Amino acid sequence: MIELSEYMLPPARSTLAGETDALFHFINVTSFILLIGITIAIVYFSWKYRRRSDDDVTPVITHNSTLEITWSVIPLILVMIVFGWGFTGYMNLTTPPDNAYEVRVVGKSWLWEFHYNNGKVSVNELNVPVDRPVKLVMSSDDVIHSFFVPDFRVKRDVLPNRYSSLWFEATETGESIIFCTEYCGTNHSQMDAVVNVMTQDDFETWVESGDSVDESVPPAERGEALVSRNGCNACHSADGSSGVGPSYLGLWESERPLANGETVTADANYIRESILQSDAKIVEGYDNVMPSYQGVINDREIDDIIEYIKTLE
Ligand code: CUA
Repeated sequence: MIELSEYMLPPARSTLAGETDALFHFINVTSFILLIGITIAIVYFSWKYRRRSDDDVTPVITHNSTLEITWSVIPLILVMIVFGWGFTGYMNLTTPPDNAYEVRVVGKSWLWEFHYNNGKVSVNELNVPVDRPVKLVMSSDDVIHSFFVPDFRVKRDVLPNRYSSLWFEATETGESIIFCTEYCGTNHSQMDAVVNVMTQDDFETWVESGDSVDESVPPAERGEALVSRNGCNACHSADGSSGVGPSYLGLWESERPLANGETVTADANYIRESILQSDAKIVEGYDNVMPSYQGVINDREIDDIIEYIKTLE
């Protein structure tokens, strides 16, 4: 038999999920029982009171107090249960515990940035400890996005010029997907990320670790990994196909016609500037939509990305 808690819903991986699911199932099951009851009544009455001869006349009915009170009070009780249950659930959902670990979330078209309390930054991967409340303080750098983790049953709009927040406490380690659920432009459907729930110890180790460079890996390969980790490849292909942004293929030291009519050479300074001040030089035929990676990708990483781009000729 299907476990009711898993029916129609993704796995429940936060402390808030149980209550949300219980209310969802209550509303569903109640509606289904009422649907069956009403359908049976309609069919039965249609048959029972069908017209049998041309002399059939509907009797004059004024009212029936018992019936009217019954069909008013039962729905009222049901609606009050749903309201009370929903209200306490909403209060739990919107009131983070005082000891919550805080993470700043920045939505940008089209990626998620996570800033931890010691200055560490991750892109498209939110690392959090298990069994500890985590509060997200969120804002957008451009348009409205929406942060949604189905496994945690939490969702909230992420707005420009204003903070919004949500909280959750993950109950098991592992990965869950994050979606953007507010249509935010061309690559909205690719604006996904993961929450990686770690043990307390693993999380401490990760968040305290510096941005160590693995010297055993060639710079170009590190650059390729960075391009993937920071979501660059969602817009910039490596095979020459045109996306939201220009392809990396053949980019290195090519002449770039700009939207303002000038032409620049794609050297190291151009690439660096395009990463940090993405709106400084817009290539002809493309829109000014790339977010700045200032404070997210450091100098050392830019070197690696340049080495990677050099290999794409
Ligand atoms: Cu961001 Cu849709």
